[in-house]
Amino acid sequence: MKVTVFGSGYVGLVTGACFAEAGNHVLCVDIDVGKVARLQQGEIPIHEPGLDDLVKRNFEKGRLKFTTSAEEGIAHGLFQFIAVGTPPEEDGSADLSHVLAVAETIGRNMTEYRVIVDKSTVPVGTADKVRERIDQALGERGVKVEYDVVSNPEFLKEGAAIADFMKPDRVVVGTDNPRTAELLKTLYDPFTRNRERMIVMDVRSAELTKYAANAMLATKISFMNEVANLAERMGADIEKVRLGIGSDPRIGYSFIYPGAGYGGSCFPKDVKALVHSAGEYQFDAQLLKSVEAVNKRQKQLLFRKIGAFFKGELKGRTIALWGLAFKPNTDDMREAPARDLMEALWAAGAKVRAYDPVAMIEAKRIYGDRADLDLVASAEAALDGADALAVVTEWQEFRSPDFDLIRDALKHKVIFDGRNLYEPALVKSFGLVYHGVGRGERLVV
Ligand SMILES: NC(=O)c1ccc[n+]([C@@H]2O[C@H](COP(=O)([O-])OP(=O)(O)OC[C@H]3O[C@@H](n4cnc5c(N)ncnc54)[C@H](O)[C@@H]3O)[C@@H](O)[C@H]2O)c1
Repeated sequence: MKVTVFGSGYVGLVTGACFAEAGNHVLCVDIDVGKVARLQQGEIPIHEPGLDDLVKRNFEKGRLKFTTSAEEGIAHGLFQFIAVGTPPEEDGSADLSHVLAVAETIGRNMTEYRVIVDKSTVPVGTADKVRERIDQALGERGVKVEYDVVSNPEFLKEGAAIADFMKPDRVVVGTDNPRTAELLKTLYDPFTRNRERMIVMDVRSAELTKYAANAMLATKISFMNEVANLAERMGADIEKVRLGIGSDPRIGYSFIYPGAGYGGSCFPKDVKALVHSAGEYQFDAQLLKSVEAVNKRQKQLLFRKIGAFFKGELKGRTIALWGLAFKPNTDDMREAPARDLMEALWAAGAKVRAYDPVAMIEAKRIYGDRADLDLVASAEAALDGADALAVVTEWQEFRSPDFDLIRDALKHKVIFDGRNLYEPALVKSFGLVYHGVGRGERLVV
């Protein structure tokens, strides 16, 4: 089948590459000229495990192509996927300008039937706005062309995006047109072979499903962080509590890890956008507001602990930072807790010596050259001359460190473990001070 994907970011590129891998002919359209040029030379602009090979293989086979020409894209695919960004506006609402710009271009150029598939995360009612834009553009041209607008939210996880796309838990399709649902079923069949995973529903329910999924996951994290803060004050160990509650199948073990707060390009913006949407329907989304507030507070926790340990004297100190990405296996630093920590440390006059297995280039892109940020080549190098170590991202390579080396390298023998990677007793047995999240020792008032 012929597929066009607008947007070659984390979602668009994975979508395009996976559809091509199944034998479809995919044309990816992006307005970022530099990005398209790099892709055309076989260079992958993001870090996503397995994506490199997948893109190269399909590019070489001629099934995956890249262009900046929207016209070419609209002429190419029966399916027109919209996978462009929907970043947050100042007021928390989702910025739909990129999505609607694509819709307008489609309306301006479409000459035959097209299935327009919204894969970007968009508020309920966006499909109607997409239709309006297309109708307006068609009206201005004085032509009538048949089309359908479908909501097909994406649930992939950065860091495991290929596996998630290839073997999805579910494929949600929002449409009122059974013919369109059938077309999408044919397109997705190769990814759902061992059992039917497509859930067809009306467009609005599909749009809300995506927000509900992310809001639920964010809620689980904030809930655990709330209980972790209680554990800290009550002399309990949240890691024991986690095991104790996770064993209940109604609760389950996944997504109940306490830590330095959630970040990334999705949870923060999607929770905010849902709160904002609720307001537009005159509903005060109290739980979601709290989820966000708890997370905001949690993202300050590491800084507050470090500040308390050094009795507020952070000026001139150097903090070693392990992990910059918002989670492991990605270079994405959007809303990463490491950013909150670094920026707070800088504001307090401290320096940061940071290491991340893949996000260093991204950190450099965001912050440029600055005297209070040293990006170093290894976890060990980050410790050199540092006062303390803060672990912010749970990369595999940070899980079993050489504690002797850490102790000897640090001026103050202290680890702030923002992901509860280490056993407090083990760390202490090496002569280090340990501060995790919710592990029974209260440092911050
Ligand atoms: N990143 C994730 O893990 C994830 C998961 C599920 C859903 N989503 C949603 O998917 C959407 C895309 O997210 P992302 O992380 O891939 O974003 P991204 O910022 O990585 O990529 C967006 C791409 O769209 C391009 N673009 C913008 N306007 C365009 C236009 N008019 N025509 C063509 N290309 C255009 C940009 O240049 C950019 O390359 C968002 O709505 C997001 O919420 C993201």
